[in-house]
Amino acid sequence: MKILICALAVVFVITKAECTNTNRGRVVCYFNNGAVNRPGIGRYGIENIPLDSCTHVIYAFIGVTDTSEVLVLDHKGDVENNGFRNFTSLKATHPNVKYMVVVGGWDEGGGKYSKMVSSSTSRTIFTSSVVDFLNEYDFDGLDLDWEYPGAADRDGNPEDKQGFLDLINELRVAFDDVGKDWLLTAAVPMTKSKLADGYDVPGLCQALDAVHVMTYDLRGNWDGFADNPSPLYRRPRDQGVYENINVEDGLQLWVDEGCPANKLVVGIPFYGRSYVLSSSSEHDIGAPIDTAAGGADPAPYTDSRGVWAYFEICSKLKDEEGWIRKWDKDGKVPYAYRENQWVGYDDPQSVKRKMEFIKENGYLGAMTWSIDMDDFRGLCGKANPLISIMHSKMKSYTVPEPNEDNYLEK
Ligand SMILES: *[C@@H]1O[C@H](CO)[C@@H](O)[C@H](O)[C@H]1NC(C)=O
Repeated sequence: MKILICALAVVFVITKAECTNTNRGRVVCYFNNGAVNRPGIGRYGIENIPLDSCTHVIYAFIGVTDTSEVLVLDHKGDVENNGFRNFTSLKATHPNVKYMVVVGGWDEGGGKYSKMVSSSTSRTIFTSSVVDFLNEYDFDGLDLDWEYPGAADRDGNPEDKQGFLDLINELRVAFDDVGKDWLLTAAVPMTKSKLADGYDVPGLCQALDAVHVMTYDLRGNWDGFADNPSPLYRRPRDQGVYENINVEDGLQLWVDEGCPANKLVVGIPFYGRSYVLSSSSEHDIGAPIDTAAGGADPAPYTDSRGVWAYFEICSKLKDEEGWIRKWDKDGKVPYAYRENQWVGYDDPQSVKRKMEFIKENGYLGAMTWSIDMDDFRGLCGKANPLISIMHSKMKSYTVPEPNEDNYLEK
């Protein structure tokens, strides 16, 4: 069939690129709709999305109402200013990219989601509301980012685990009934306790097209010491609760719990976590920090304490005197410091290393939170350096069919 379609491509408008590698690695680009409100050169609109580098783009976020229907969170930007429609109209020029929308996110809390999945009636209300929404704005699928089912500190309860699985299964049936090949994916955590509380791994992985593992924010100001938020591997210093909190072990946990490797997408942060050091003379990983500060001062465009976009980090390193960049040889990620400021982040070198890791393990691809934090204006060199690496490494990669080892043996 594939050969026939490709032969026809010569005659019809199907591009040759579509025919070369249909099982290629995914590059999933989350787009933060709030980025359009950043000042000056920080402003990132839908028109800035590098569609040639993404296989999937995901519009963030929509929410859920108290009565379990889809909730538009930014009515002015999303609807009045046509955020949704502008986003999906990119299909005209880039028809091979999938255009999805994500429901949830940290700020949405967990309570409304727990309530929504708790009964068949409210799940049905949500599911049909989603179908109407995707139809209305011409999206190609839904990503679920409930943080997190079953999390007691997020207004969850033990019944969420079954409720979440029921919801996913019902959405799958509803999407298949619509018959538009809509995708169903989820953004998920990677700690043993969170999975135990809310995620039926084999069931979810069977119903979902892809699982976006949020392998970032693994360390932060809350830990009380300076570290990179997304180390690829375990370092000797990672003891106790930190032992398995790294990208490799997080993905392996999903595999061990019964998810096929070729459904797993590895999260790459296009931002760093910044800290105020207690003393400017102690600046290795693990250095004591002024936790009360809540992270280093906001950077000019993202204006958020403790979180700096990659384009802000590379600009600081390039333009401000005195920054020193170091490489964590065990975690395979960089960090940088200057006086009492410290930041752990990902850069071209670590992203490249993580793409190799994806290929070595047969995972489905890579995703980023979020595309608007790459060096999209080329402030430090060529524009969009991080997503370009992801693209070039994933386009030549064919995702393997899972072998027996990828499946649950328990
Ligand atoms: C959508 O596109 C129109 C026309 O180019 C533009 O005026 C508007 O600002 C866009 N809206 C968003 C949210 O990007």
